[in-house]
Amino acid sequence: MKFSTKAIHEGSEPGEHGDVIPAIHLSTTFKHEAIGIHGKFQYGRCGNPSREAVERQIASLENGKFGLGFSSGLAAIDCVLKTLKQGDKIVASDDLYGGTRRLLTQVYSRFGIGVEYVDTTNVELVKKKINDDVKLLWLETPSNPILKVSDIKDIVESVGRNDLVIAVDNTFMTPYFQNPLSLGVDVVVHSTSKYLGGHSDSIGGAVVVNNEKLYEELKFHQNATGAIMSPFDSWLLLRSIKTLSIRMEKHNSNAQKIAEWLAVQKRVKKVYYPGLEDNEYHQLAKTQMGGFGGVISFEIDEYETFLENLEMVSLAESLAGVESLIAHPWTMSHCSVPEEEKIRLGINKNLLRLSVGIEDVEDIIADLEQAMEKI
Ligand SMILES: Cc1ncc(COP(=O)(O)O)c(C=O)c1O
Repeated sequence: MKFSTKAIHEGSEPGEHGDVIPAIHLSTTFKHEAIGIHGKFQYGRCGNPSREAVERQIASLENGKFGLGFSSGLAAIDCVLKTLKQGDKIVASDDLYGGTRRLLTQVYSRFGIGVEYVDTTNVELVKKKINDDVKLLWLETPSNPILKVSDIKDIVESVGRNDLVIAVDNTFMTPYFQNPLSLGVDVVVHSTSKYLGGHSDSIGGAVVVNNEKLYEELKFHQNATGAIMSPFDSWLLLRSIKTLSIRMEKHNSNAQKIAEWLAVQKRVKKVYYPGLEDNEYHQLAKTQMGGFGGVISFEIDEYETFLENLEMVSLAESLAGVESLIAHPWTMSHCSVPEEEKIRLGINKNLLRLSVGIEDVEDIIADLEQAMEKI
């Protein structure tokens, strides 16, 4: 089956009453036939039919065998980190979602798990950082918020494998535009709060893997520590993912038009969007990704006045909903990153991150334009 067919049918097989849309299974527990004789599900934290359906759906879209659903994207990332032990090291992309960096730097360092950040767009630098102590290579591509693109296949082929696990946070691209497992990585992670959910009404996370042993270990931690996706969020997500392909097409085409428009505005100093021909990652993005996504970052004069004057586009955390949102990474998503590191990464005070929604593109541009005129 192709992508949209899988998105609509995987996990949504007609139920016992012939229901075309699966019911939400709220039961926290499941009856045993007798001692030691029970069905697939026993207790809701260990497994639940609604969660199992969406875990299968996401796994199939990522061309993976096993999916796991979590209560947030960070809980999904945390579960992968729990497979490490004291003394292990992590190498991670330097331009990461601020919450992932906070988890690595401020939480896991306390347990003796060190992290080194590296510009993963430079494969030679990545190779230099990998040694026997490094057990996890964490990639975010395109990165948040500068949208730097790392060459997944080249990295996979260049670093010695042994027991190194390579993970990609695929939140920005979604499986519709990028399939890291097919490029050779071991783990794919999503904040389903973003495009997979797509309607800004559910927080969740997912992990997809092909290796059964790794899956069993992740499943153990998911159950042992308990940050599972709720039945309602699972059901809502199963429903949202059915329209992922058409939403991503529209996010992508709107973002391309807006990035091209921003690039010629005199108030705008710099535009980061891999779909622009002069973007340094454009050629790589064209081969690795099926589209360039719906997020654009740009630097603008007098950003505070600009933000105050936006009427339709809301200043808000998060991204990837059907409605356009704008964020100020300096004070919002990346507030926990030290100032000097933000500046080194190009996250300046006048950098804004626009999550382009699927409204009519003329209306989004009209709002940006009228706010810009008031600067
Ligand atoms: C790329 C990326 N990964 C992970 C996360 C964390 O996801 P959540 O907010 O669902 O915990 C985010 C949140 O913004 C993100 O942008």
